[in-house]
Amino acid sequence: MKVSLGPKTIAFPLPAYLVGSYDVDGRPNVMTAAWGGILSSDPPCLGVSVRPSRWTHAGIVKNKAFTVGFPGSNMARETDFVGLYSGKGRDKFKEASLTAARSQLVDAPYVDECPVVAECALEKTLELGSHTLFVGRVLDVKANDGVLSDGQLDMGKVDPLVFSPEGEYFQIGPFVAKAFSVGKYPK
Ligand SMILES: Cc1cc2nc3c(=O)[nH]c(=O)nc-3n(C[C@H](O)[C@H](O)[C@H](O)COP(=O)(O)O)c2cc1C
Repeated sequence: MKVSLGPKTIAFPLPAYLVGSYDVDGRPNVMTAAWGGILSSDPPCLGVSVRPSRWTHAGIVKNKAFTVGFPGSNMARETDFVGLYSGKGRDKFKEASLTAARSQLVDAPYVDECPVVAECALEKTLELGSHTLFVGRVLDVKANDGVLSDGQLDMGKVDPLVFSPEGEYFQIGPFVAKAFSVGKYPK
């Protein structure tokens, strides 16, 4: 038997993204976002939904760029910190001992401590109500060589921090099966 939970925002597991941008004064800023995801394969697009009240919002609108960092599970504290406090009037990179690396491709910094980052040029903006969906075209993905196997991302090594909409951080569990393969018929 299923129990109704009412209309609510639900999808899981969610990534905990670290969204990097330069603010309206050109200072590097970073905020946590869990509302977002892959939006298109070709061109490769990622979306993040940001409330207009966030300091990040004005920075992305001004610079037409943002980065998406994928923190490891060992970065829960830093991820929560930059999601609790605004960068308006404070340097969150410095306070969280994170490094703002200058992207050569877009006008936005990325969190160097994240094992994987995506550099995005703002492609489209969609006002949805409480949040603005920023659609970014991914110009490059950069990964630490230590999280690759045979040149591809190895999720076991990336060990991403996962967010639950009930307000908890998790680690991913064990490998289950190969996608686009285990379901093939006949076996
Ligand atoms: C786990 C987590 C997920 C969050 N997801 C979002 C989100 O998807 N969109 C958003 O606008 N704010 C989100 N926030 C809140 C912002 O990160 C927070 O308001 C932050 O202080 C904004 O920073 P800024 O003012 O420097 O941009 C989230 C916070 C946490 C801790």
